[in-house]
Amino acid sequence: MEKILVIGCAGQIGSELTIELRKLYGDSNVVATDIKPADKEITEGGPFEILDVLDTHRLFGTVSRNKITQIYHLAAILSGNAEKKPIASWHINMESLLNVLELSRELNLNKVFWPSSIAVFGPTTPRVNTPQFTVMEPSTVYGISKLAGERWLEYYYQKYGVDIRSLRYPGLISHKTEAGGGTTDYAVEIFYEAIREKKYECFLSEQTYLPMQFMDDAIKATIAVMEAPAEKISVRSSYNVAGISFSPEEIVAEIKKRIPEFEITYNPDFRQAIAESWPQSIDDSVAREDWGLNNTYDLKKMVDVMLSEVAKKFD
Ligand code: NAD
Ligand code: SER
Repeated sequence: MEKILVIGCAGQIGSELTIELRKLYGDSNVVATDIKPADKEITEGGPFEILDVLDTHRLFGTVSRNKITQIYHLAAILSGNAEKKPIASWHINMESLLNVLELSRELNLNKVFWPSSIAVFGPTTPRVNTPQFTVMEPSTVYGISKLAGERWLEYYYQKYGVDIRSLRYPGLISHKTEAGGGTTDYAVEIFYEAIREKKYECFLSEQTYLPMQFMDDAIKATIAVMEAPAEKISVRSSYNVAGISFSPEEIVAEIKKRIPEFEITYNPDFRQAIAESWPQSIDDSVAREDWGLNNTYDLKKMVDVMLSEVAKKFD
């Protein structure tokens, strides 16, 4: 029986992935951790510990005491927040990964999941249908940390045989937990403001195309790549994952069909330059061929679910 450690369980992905992993492996077999308290559903639904992933001693203790066999390491500082504190963010993003990799090597864990991002690409990358293997010159501290992280994953796999799997998530859209300081966060915030205020000031300009994915598809893809037989995993850095590509203008048009009085204004800030350095759409054919990546949400379906779920929070 696998025993799983989730690091960063209180975040946008962790708050949903932990629940799905518990359904799959049993509540008591998924130990959820974060540096901050999590929702009751997580803290009362199975084992939960406060853990700073940078505290190597405690991390080893938690893994040994719970006889952990797999780690999902989700703790990181995302693109927008990382630009405000570049050195501190580099430290958290890289040291935490190296802690997890070293521990996995020493304790011979079965598998590790660590997410990368579309932020590994940069202004010199082809922006449309970005291939799996291409030019990668990221211009953000977050992107540099994700690209360096991908190189470390491949190094630990080649040199020590640590079975680490990874997805380059696009911007993730969800309603359970608010987004954690990224450049794609507008596509989550817009639903809260559409329901609450019927207006939103967008920090990206109207025609800024970015690849996004609905959280249900992201969780499904994460579990699929982790469950795939090792011989199906041909990419040991990180897999491209495409979802739905759209611009603020297009998501606004969909919201207006459902809330005609919704008003949008545009006031691009420093995140505009980040967005313009990232792909507009992604070629994820390698993930589809290797282990059957299959997204099910399009823009319309995602907007329907987001509006109805966010509205329930304010009933
Ligand atoms: P988030 O910011 O919502 O959650 C991260 C969690 O990590 C938070 O709960 C935070 O408290 C925790 N954390 C921070 N420092 C910690 C530490 N020192 N020790 C323990 N926990 C700590 O982020 P998320 O959106 O859930 O992203 C999770 C991972 O997925 C990150 O690696 C991120 O780069 C990657 N990713 C996310 C997206 C997205 O759109 N959400 C896209 C691409 C990649
Ligand atoms: N959603 C993430 C961000 O904007 C992409 O990695 O930082």
